[in-house]
Amino acid sequence: MEKIRILGSPDRPLRGQVTISGAKNAVLPAIAASLLTQDEIHLTNIPLVKDVFTILTLMSELGAEYKINGNCLTIAIRNVLCHEASYQLVRAMRASILVLGPLLARHGKAVVALPGGCAIGSRPIDLHLHGLEKLGANFTLEHGYIKAEAKKLRGAVIEFDKKTVGGTENLVMAATLAQGETILKNCAQEPEVTNLCELLIKMGAKIDGVGEEIMRIKGVSELGGTIHDIIPDRIEAGTFLVAGALTKGDIYLNRVRPDHMTTTIEKLRYSGAKVEEIGRDCLRVQGSEEIKPQDIITSPYPGFPTDMQAQFMVLMTQANGTSIITETIFDRRFLHVNELLRLGANIEVHGDKAIIKGKTPLSGAETTATDLRASACLVLAGLIAKGETIINDVEHLDRGYERIEDKLKQLGASIERITTEKEEKR
Ligand code: EPZ
Repeated sequence: MEKIRILGSPDRPLRGQVTISGAKNAVLPAIAASLLTQDEIHLTNIPLVKDVFTILTLMSELGAEYKINGNCLTIAIRNVLCHEASYQLVRAMRASILVLGPLLARHGKAVVALPGGCAIGSRPIDLHLHGLEKLGANFTLEHGYIKAEAKKLRGAVIEFDKKTVGGTENLVMAATLAQGETILKNCAQEPEVTNLCELLIKMGAKIDGVGEEIMRIKGVSELGGTIHDIIPDRIEAGTFLVAGALTKGDIYLNRVRPDHMTTTIEKLRYSGAKVEEIGRDCLRVQGSEEIKPQDIITSPYPGFPTDMQAQFMVLMTQANGTSIITETIFDRRFLHVNELLRLGANIEVHGDKAIIKGKTPLSGAETTATDLRASACLVLAGLIAKGETIINDVEHLDRGYERIEDKLKQLGASIERITTEKEEKR
């Protein structure tokens, strides 16, 4: 197992420039969308993170051929050789479920393992299945697998009971090749959903209302290849903005989309940090001596992103006063609290609310990551905790951050990746 070791200090400002990678949550549906055509899809600015290699393993099993050159991916599935997403892969990455819609649209059948729960909650897929059923798919559940069949998907009117990023993405992809028009209501409006729709339109899909709550998709007989740029990762960018505010540093973030981060930027400014937009794709963050407490409620885009909740919680431990964070998206997304308590934070969880009392000095300790964003929160805490912090199970971190320790080292952090003895013995 690999670990990360940080020698932290409350007086070690991070300074310099960092380039933000492409968005994990945009590239995963884009790769799944390559199932919708026999032609080559070229994706630029892809992040080389673990989840990308996991979905590429799944796509290879389905019959894809791909090559990666730097941060560019070329992928094509001339023939679907298999239509099963195995439990091992779905268990490793819930987003594997994104092949369900495209497989049904292209191939008329799919066998996908039920994703099961994960560290941040139950995360069912009922909204995906209800929507696909409306398009004409039939499902049976056998031995933990969903067996799906659809002679020909037909357009329908589908209203999501609640906003679902993956559900919207699955249904949009399926609807592009359905017969007739599909109207999707209460769609998720995350930038990653928009980035996917822009890719599908380049492939020949007919989609109106991109980025809005209601989308109309007119099915076409086939889609073609194209080249498409993956948007910057707004959550990685937000994580570095918090790092700059937390360490009272001065960091320039290159290759970002400030227009995708308005709520995060607004909350950071309210906390006292100075956040400047420089040109079209650069942000500068300068931390302030005093950090102001504030209440945060996570909500679907354009609200405060749930994927920034853990990172912001660390900032609030250093605020002068009490902050309340309400998590409305996932039913168990406070697992990072126990680890922060071990570093000296003063946090109480009551249902969907975490009450953070600041300012509390943090001291280094050995910790364990539970999920992707919890790991990022522990890295941030380690930067300002006095002494050594060890973060175990960093594979969670690698799922969504490309070489985060190198990027932080460049900014002046004392951070390194270490392997355990048995790894060294090999
Ligand atoms: C996407 O997950 C992201 N993952 C998550 O990022 C992100 O936290 C989440 O959207 C919310 O923004 C990817 O894009 C790969 P949802 P997704 O469907 O699509 C419930 C990260 O750290 N729900 O929008 O799985 C669900 O349980 C990850 O990068 C149903 O009830 O999320 C949750 O409470 C973590 N039934 C809420 O809706 C369904 O059929 C939102 O889930 C589907 C979802």
